[in-house]
Amino acid sequence: MLLCLCYGVSEKSILNELAEGPKSIEAIQAKFKIGTNCGSCVCHLKDLIDKTKTGAQEIVVGKEAEKEQ
Ligand code: FES
Repeated sequence: MLLCLCYGVSEKSILNELAEGPKSIEAIQAKFKIGTNCGSCVCHLKDLIDKTKTGAQEIVVGKEAEKEQ
């Protein structure tokens, strides 16, 4: 699923980045440009970052892994 339509950044790409360790919104934006055009995806990016802080990332990644099998 695309998280950022302006730059074609997938949710999976962001989850993979966050799996390497906690990242700030600014760090993600610097690498992927996500949210730097129309800005409509920033709230979704914030949600993903918050979920990874609470450990919910593993649940999302697990669902994504099931889809790929
Ligand atoms: S959808 Fe991400 S900047 Fe527009």
